[in-house]
Amino acid sequence: MKPKVFITRKIPAHLLKELQSVCDISIWDHEDTPVPRILLEEKIPDIDGLFCLLTEKIDADLLEKANNLKVVSNMAVGYNNIDVDAATKKGIIVTNTPGVLTETTADLTFALLMATARRIPEASEFLRDGKWNTWSPMLLTGQDIYNSTLGIIGMGRIGEALVRRAKGFNMNILYHNRKRKLDAEEELDIQYCPLDKLLKESDFICIMTPYTEETKNMIRKEHFKLMKDTAILINTARGGIVNEEDLYHALVSNEIWAAGVDVFEQEPVPRNHQLLTLPKVVALPHIGSASIATRIKMANVAVNNLIQALKGEIPDHIVNKEIVNL
Ligand code: GLV
Ligand code: GLV
Repeated sequence: MKPKVFITRKIPAHLLKELQSVCDISIWDHEDTPVPRILLEEKIPDIDGLFCLLTEKIDADLLEKANNLKVVSNMAVGYNNIDVDAATKKGIIVTNTPGVLTETTADLTFALLMATARRIPEASEFLRDGKWNTWSPMLLTGQDIYNSTLGIIGMGRIGEALVRRAKGFNMNILYHNRKRKLDAEEELDIQYCPLDKLLKESDFICIMTPYTEETKNMIRKEHFKLMKDTAILINTARGGIVNEEDLYHALVSNEIWAAGVDVFEQEPVPRNHQLLTLPKVVALPHIGSASIATRIKMANVAVNNLIQALKGEIPDHIVNKEIVNL
């Protein structure tokens, strides 16, 4: 008998076909509505494998209902939507999709940095709204990127990819990370910094850490006070790492200059969210890894992880390694 798999969103047809050849598939076959929780709860007791997205909360309550589940394959590098400890306790493998999205996410991060510094969405709207009456010396002026100082909080794969882009702009690069990375320092010519010093000295501060208990609310009121009043904060990691209320206050009181955010505490972000009222905020709907090629690669990695785990093999990208004694 083929293992039973539930897929929580429409995926590329060729990958669905591949899964159908080895698994008994049911799918929430929609593009732009997430699977209702109730359906997920209905499916979970019987399935052997779950293919899910970061929009699904795979918590202990849900996992408790699983009787045969061997693997949760998340089509994302981040897995804060999954209670990994609860999965581990039940012997359920959790997998993610690192590597394939690194360059694409670094591209978006740098694009957001530039768009925020040079006020590109605001300028474009200004023109379309018919407000462009004349060229004017200080009209829509922003901050320079070339020769500035970039502070990266979280030096993983994506952080390193961001460094390579920043080098083209002759940026001076500081980083903060749980562990110092001496190899990266040497190879990329970057400088390790305590968090306070990084916040004080950087023109751009990019959040690139995973979302964990440790990084939750990591950037809040007291941290904005340390930043330059010309500083720009960029977050393409996860919403809860930066305190949104404190970010809003830092922006309206001119403690910092602007922010570019691709991620929010609550997603989709409510239309009346206070950050969206500020022209200084460039906001995007969590599209860091959203290139056609990369999303197909991520789905492919997630499919492979799922099949490997169901065959009893060790998946390429396993999050709770202790489960297979790696
Ligand atoms: C997207 O945010 C991801 O974690 O892959
Ligand atoms: C994610 O892939 C990271 O390591 O930054």
